[in-house]
Amino acid sequence: AVTHVHQFVIQEASVKRLCKTQHVMTVNGMYPGPTLEIKNGDTLSVKVINKGKYNVTIHWHGVRQMRTGWADGPEFVTQCPIRPGGSYTYRFTVRGQEGTLWWHAHSSWLRATVYGALLIQPREGTNFPFAKPDRQSTLLLGEWWNANPVDVVREATRTGAAPNISDAYTINGQPGDLYNCSTQGFFFSISSGETNLLRVVNSAMNQPLFFTIANHKFTVVGADASYVKPFTTSVLMLGPGQTTDVLISGDQPAGRYYMAARAYQSAQNAPFDNTTTTAILEYKSAACSSDPIMPRLPAFNDTPTVTAFSTSFRSRERALVPAQIDESLFFTVGLGLNNCPPNFNGTRFTASMNNVSFSLPSNFSLLQAHIQGIRGVFTSDFPAAPPRVFDYTGNVSRSLWQPATGTKLYRLKYGSRVQVVLQDTSIVTPENHPIHLHGYDFYIIAEGFGNYNPKTDSSKFNLVDPPLRNTAAVPVGGWAVIRFVADNPGVWLMHCHLDVHITWGLAMAFLVEDGVGKLEAIEPPPEDLPICS
Ligand code: C2O
Repeated sequence: AVTHVHQFVIQEASVKRLCKTQHVMTVNGMYPGPTLEIKNGDTLSVKVINKGKYNVTIHWHGVRQMRTGWADGPEFVTQCPIRPGGSYTYRFTVRGQEGTLWWHAHSSWLRATVYGALLIQPREGTNFPFAKPDRQSTLLLGEWWNANPVDVVREATRTGAAPNISDAYTINGQPGDLYNCSTQGFFFSISSGETNLLRVVNSAMNQPLFFTIANHKFTVVGADASYVKPFTTSVLMLGPGQTTDVLISGDQPAGRYYMAARAYQSAQNAPFDNTTTTAILEYKSAACSSDPIMPRLPAFNDTPTVTAFSTSFRSRERALVPAQIDESLFFTVGLGLNNCPPNFNGTRFTASMNNVSFSLPSNFSLLQAHIQGIRGVFTSDFPAAPPRVFDYTGNVSRSLWQPATGTKLYRLKYGSRVQVVLQDTSIVTPENHPIHLHGYDFYIIAEGFGNYNPKTDSSKFNLVDPPLRNTAAVPVGGWAVIRFVADNPGVWLMHCHLDVHITWGLAMAFLVEDGVGKLEAIEPPPEDLPICS
C-alpha cells in the first residue's frame, strides 16, 4: 500500500459562468477541485492550507475513517474549523472500499464550489469484479449560483426563508449549452466498441438529480464505493451525497450524444430549477459538426422511476447484515416551522430528527468534548423514537411543526448492532431526504411509502443481499430501514445531505464508545488538530 501526499490550498478564484464572473472559494484554484485517485488499502495525507477568508474543513464523504474520526471533517463535530491562515493535515487509510467517493468542504455552504472526486481503484494485485473497462471518467453533478453561496445561506438564515435556488446545474462545473450564455459543456470521448466506467457523483447542494445519456444504457456496477450485482437501466437518480458507478458501451452509431441531468423534485409547491445541464459523449470517429442527440429525462416528479431504480440495488459480495439487533431506533426526518423570537409568526423554516433540531457547539468539537470529558457541550439524550407517533402522510397537526433545538447525541456501545427506521414526516411537504451517516456504511434492508409499520413491514427486510451505502434516499412520504454494527468509535454525524435541511437542523450524531483494548478505541488526536480558541 502507498501513501499519497497532497496539498489543498483553499483560495479564492474567479470563475465565469452564465456570463457572470464570481469570486468563489476553491481548492488550488480549481473548480471543481482536484480528483484524488488511490487504491483500496492506500493512505491519504492531505494538508489543507486555508488562504481563504472563511473558516473551512474538508470531509471525505463515505470514507469509513476506522478509528481516525479526527480526520472526518465536519466542523464542530470532529474538529474545530481551520481558520484563515491555519492548516490541518487529514491522514487516513481507505480499507475495504472500492469505487467512487468524494470530498467536500463541511462548513457553511462552501461545498458548493469546494468539492472533488475520490476514486478508489481495486486493491493492488486485484481487479474489478467485471471486465476491465477501457477507460474511466468522472462526472460530478453540481449546482451553480450567480451569487456567493455563503451569502445565499447567510441571507436565508437571517430571514428564516428558503434560500435562493441555484441558477444552473452543472456537470464537472459546466452548465452546458442548453443554458443562456453558456457554451458547450464538458465532453467525454469514446471509441466504438469500448467500455467506459462512468463514476457519477451527485455533489449538488440541494437537489436530487436524474441522469441519463441519449441512446445508451447503463449497467450499474457500484454505489457509494461498494460493488452491486449488475443491473441495467437507462436513467439514474442520485440524491446529494450518493455516487453510482456504471458501465456504458460504445455500441451506438458514431456521433455525439448529450449526457443530461435535471431535478427529481419530490417536494410539492417548492420552487426549484427545472433546467437541464448537459455534457457531451462524443465518438472519436464522429463528424465534429453533428448536433448532439438529446435524451428523454423523466418528469420532475416521476417517483415510480426513482423507486424502480432504488429498489434494484443488491450487494455483490456476501452482505454481513446483523440478523439480530441490540438497538432498535425510529427517527423521523422532516421540516418544521419555528415561531420563536425574533419571528413569532411561524414563518421561519426549521428541520429536525425526532423533533430535535440539531445545533452545533462553537467552543469545542463534539469529539473533543467526548474524548476529554468536557461537560456542557452536548447531552446524550437523543430520543430513540419521536416524542409522539403521528400520521406521517400529511395533515399533521400544527402543534407538531415546531421542534426543540438541542445538541443531543445518541450513545452506542462498541459493537452494538443498530437498526434505524428513517421516516419522512411530510411536515410542510413530503420530500425525498438523502440521509448520510458519517464513519459508516449501512445496509438498506427495506424502503416503502406511507407510515412504517413494524408488524408488517419487517417481512420485507432483505437480510441476504441488501446494498451497502453511506447515503440513503428516504422515499418521498415514506421510510427506509438501515442496519449497521457500531464498530467505529467516535462521534458521527447523521444528516440530510440537502444542505438547506442541515442548515435548518436536520441532523443528529451518534457517540460510539470505545471498546476494549487499543484496536477498539479511537486513535489519539493529531498534533495539528484545530481547536476552537
Ligand atoms: Cu457529504 Cu456530512 O457530508
